[in-house]
Amino acid sequence: MRRLKLAILISGRGSNMEALLKAIAADLDFPATPVLVASNKPDAPGLEIADAADVPTVALDHRDYGKDRAAFEKELDDELRRSGTEIIALAGFMRVLTPWFVSRWEGRMINIHPSLLPKYKGLDTHQRALDAGDSEAGCTVHWVNSGVDDGEIIAQARVPILRGDTEDTLAARTLIAEHMLFPEALKIACAKILKR
Ligand code: GAR
Repeated sequence: MRRLKLAILISGRGSNMEALLKAIAADLDFPATPVLVASNKPDAPGLEIADAADVPTVALDHRDYGKDRAAFEKELDDELRRSGTEIIALAGFMRVLTPWFVSRWEGRMINIHPSLLPKYKGLDTHQRALDAGDSEAGCTVHWVNSGVDDGEIIAQARVPILRGDTEDTLAARTLIAEHMLFPEALKIACAKILKR
């Protein structure tokens, strides 16, 4: 069975990355195999989780490149090519990518976002859902295009907003849904690429 070589990009905790690695380890038929975890922050806790799972890691500190986003992305792109990456999962990767990078990976890059897109693109999604008085929130996995949190939706999961919810309680409930949704959405994305 053909498995796509998967790179996961993170910036921090890495719980969604861990959910992907666990789902892949638990399923012999999973259509992807991890070849690289890359972080734009050298102190991202997720890097240790990836190390412990024996997945190669690379940390490229975006601050070393100052305002030169292109140089940072060129280096990242080189690492991805060296690893043989065929599909990228953005798992809490908090850098906006330039059109150059997106066009190089378009159709092969997915992102998880903690809202029911198209609602609440960008940051502070949980607080914005609470402020709006919404009765439900959720998460979305989508193909990445050159807009921010804007590409075609692959899958979504909904969670209720409960009386007394705070940003933290809603984020925690949504995160559980993210961890279930992301592996399923990755499978769908892999199937689409493999069919091409
Ligand atoms: C997750 O909630 C993810 O959806 C969000 O960052 C968190 C990362 O947590 N991503 C975005 O907001 C991207 N726009 P994690 O590092 O534990 O996976």
